[in-house]
Amino acid sequence: MRALKGLARALNDHGQYKYKHPESVVDFVVIGGGVVGLAIAQRLSESFPSKSTFLLERHTRVGEEISSRNSEVIHSGLYYPSESLKTTLCLRGRDLMYERCKKHNIPFRQTGKLVVARSDQRSYVEGLHAKSLKLKWPGHPWLDSDQTVLSTQLLSGEEVREMEPDLSTDIVAGLWCPQTGIVDSHSFMESLEKDIMDSENGSLVFATNVVRIDRHQKTTASTEDGWVVQASSGGDSYAILARNVINASGLSSVTVRNSILPKSKRIPMFYAKGSYASYHGPGVSKIKHLIYPCPYTGPNAHAFESLGTHLTLDLQGKIRFGPDLEWIDPPESEITGTVEDGDFWTKELIPDSSKLPEIHRAVTSYLPGVVLEGLRPDDVGIRPKLISPGRGFQDFLFHKDYPSVDAERNSNNLMISLLGIESPGLTSSLAIAEIIIEGMLKGR
Ligand SMILES: Cc1cc2nc3c(=O)[nH]c(=O)nc-3n(C[C@H](O)[C@H](O)[C@H](O)COP(=O)(O)OP(=O)(O)OC[C@H]3O[C@@H](n4cnc5c(N)ncnc54)[C@H](O)[C@@H]3O)c2cc1C
Ligand SMILES: *[C@@H]1O[C@H](CO)[C@@H](O)[C@H](O)[C@H]1NC(C)=O
Ligand SMILES: *[C@@H]1O[C@H](CO)[C@@H](O)[C@H](O)[C@H]1NC(C)=O
Repeated sequence: MRALKGLARALNDHGQYKYKHPESVVDFVVIGGGVVGLAIAQRLSESFPSKSTFLLERHTRVGEEISSRNSEVIHSGLYYPSESLKTTLCLRGRDLMYERCKKHNIPFRQTGKLVVARSDQRSYVEGLHAKSLKLKWPGHPWLDSDQTVLSTQLLSGEEVREMEPDLSTDIVAGLWCPQTGIVDSHSFMESLEKDIMDSENGSLVFATNVVRIDRHQKTTASTEDGWVVQASSGGDSYAILARNVINASGLSSVTVRNSILPKSKRIPMFYAKGSYASYHGPGVSKIKHLIYPCPYTGPNAHAFESLGTHLTLDLQGKIRFGPDLEWIDPPESEITGTVEDGDFWTKELIPDSSKLPEIHRAVTSYLPGVVLEGLRPDDVGIRPKLISPGRGFQDFLFHKDYPSVDAERNSNNLMISLLGIESPGLTSSLAIAEIIIEGMLKGR
């Protein structure tokens, strides 16, 4: 998170990064080597082989932040409002991901998943089922597909326990969703990385932190509109003129974007931490599928904030429970970058056992045989949220900025900012790349 502060610092008027004149011109700069930035840079280098694409990542390898701290679930596209980008891009991304996994030998398994309901939650799974039957393929002009969107099945308590005998007898209904699966997200990211490296005009640049971005307007016939991207690497900083910028910087994307906006237009950001626990012990001996409870929708929580503390399997069959949901409140100084070290974030990401009793309580509501002693703290991840607790549904947000009125009129020289790319961001990554390239950057 150090870069987040570096960036914010660059933005304020007394910042240490002074404007620099660009030394070279490139076609595309993608900020952030998480799964989303990788998917975008991969597709850019494939779709525009003669143009230069640079993916800038502040760490020394890909996927060091949100993309390495998640459930690795290929979501089916079940939960979100039908017309939302989350639904559209999850459905499309899911299929693109299965295709890519098969083609590139990326480990994955289409496990299917069960959403299980107690008697007071029956209407929730019935509602999900009714919605899934009505889902249609998104009608993008570059897409033609009429295959099954979702083929969910409503099950009785007995049928659910036939599939998963370890489930509680309190479970009276379930929704079977065969399209859900799991993927080795690191192999997936490596395959994208390899494609970029192998392309002639695509490059991955590590240990490079974007610290400042300025609009660049053409002054004479010899210059052009674009964005001056200043990056710092090993103490040195340099600037390049990017014709287009795609910002996929995850948790920092708001900070980055805010840097070019007046205070009144800045986007607030909220952080929701999710902790996992690994499990070895009784009560799960026959588990074969992913199992999700119904999301908690009590007075202080909204179903869209988290899918509930669920059971995931990895490709080795290891069982994990999580993630739970805890809103965290970084001190103002951490967000605005007025302090030097990243202690707050580092501490937040250390797994600790204080969450285990609550995770145990949540899990035993559907798997009664699970014992507290078998739980161990596992990964911790942070969801970048655009809305505050209890505020309901927030879609992915793709924000466009232009360096000049002229560029805006011609839809040229975009800076596209990807905001709020929380779950199902991994599943949607290839579809996010598709919509950005086919829908926003091509045919202008
Ligand atoms: C607990 C949890 C569970 C989840 N489970 C699932 C799931 O099961 N299935 C699913 O589909 N999705 C899931 N998600 C969502 C998914 O993990 C994210 O949507 C996705 O990983 C986001 O990827 P990203 O590339 O946007 O962000 P990141 O992976 O965070 O990538 C951003 C990158 O930008 C770099 N960066 C930032 N600022 C700069 C800068 N100034 N200069 C250079 N580089 C910079 C960072 O170092 C980082 O590598 C989950 C998320 C969480 C938190
Ligand atoms: C890559 O860029 C160079 C320089 O612009 C160009 O000559 C070359 O043809 C490009 N490669 C491909 C595969 O288009
Ligand atoms: C993307 O990143 C750049 C630089 O890091 C920033 O200026 C821009 O505002 C960011 N966009 C978003 C949506 O964060």
